[in-house]
Amino acid sequence: MSTLAVSTMPARSSRLHPIAIRIMHWTNAAAMIVLIGSGWGIYNDSVIIHGLHFPVKIGSWAAESLLWHFAAMWVLTLNGAAYLIYGVATGRLRERLLPIRLRDVVETVRETLRFKLAHEDLTTYNAVQKILYIVVILAGVAQVVSGVAIWKPVQFSGLVSLLGGFQSARLIHFLGMAVIVGFLVVHVALSLLVPRTLWAMLTGGPELPSQRKEA
Ligand code: HEM
Repeated sequence: MSTLAVSTMPARSSRLHPIAIRIMHWTNAAAMIVLIGSGWGIYNDSVIIHGLHFPVKIGSWAAESLLWHFAAMWVLTLNGAAYLIYGVATGRLRERLLPIRLRDVVETVRETLRFKLAHEDLTTYNAVQKILYIVVILAGVAQVVSGVAIWKPVQFSGLVSLLGGFQSARLIHFLGMAVIVGFLVVHVALSLLVPRTLWAMLTGGPELPSQRKEA
């Protein structure tokens, strides 16, 4: 096809959340929820914080929880890696999550405290959303790394030392879970408060003109 023919073609449009993103997002969410529930079952068998037990868990006893945990761990690791590779390769992660400016963070916090936070434009995340998404992505990576360390402490003894020993790696894994649960509470509450965002993550959302490739 000639250069002229390509450059006069109308720009191709894509959805706000392409199908690949939606599949990966919901797969990650399901895997995280199974990991949290089964992690609580494993934790109950050998508590870190005296007196803290989780009444809700996946798996009727620790060994069953462990099976669920490993199954979901593979799903999260492979699907999470696919999300990161897709996000870097298409530029989506950089476009949606960067830059984060201090004055935008201050402005978002100020508007939220005055209950004036607008969410008219679905195509851009506010500064606090960007920070939350980056934190949860990093927490997910930290969970995989600390999880590998406590799963195979002999084979990955160098990693265990880097994390400050076995008990410290276990504590990091526990704190990572707490960060993700905290994120989930805020994230689900906000998506229910602004259901248009939830609908968009289910159906793809509005069409966006995508960058035309020059021949
Ligand atoms: C721990 C599990 C979850 C994680 C790690 C997670 C993570 C994320 C991330 C990183 C994004 C940005 C995606 C992008 O634009 O590339 C996102 C968007 C979104 N997520 Fe989740 N999510 C989780 C669970 C959920 C759940 C359970 C719901 C629904 C109740 C949900 C609803 C949404 C919605 C509606 C958006 C779009 C937000 C907007 O357009 O303003 N997520 N999520």
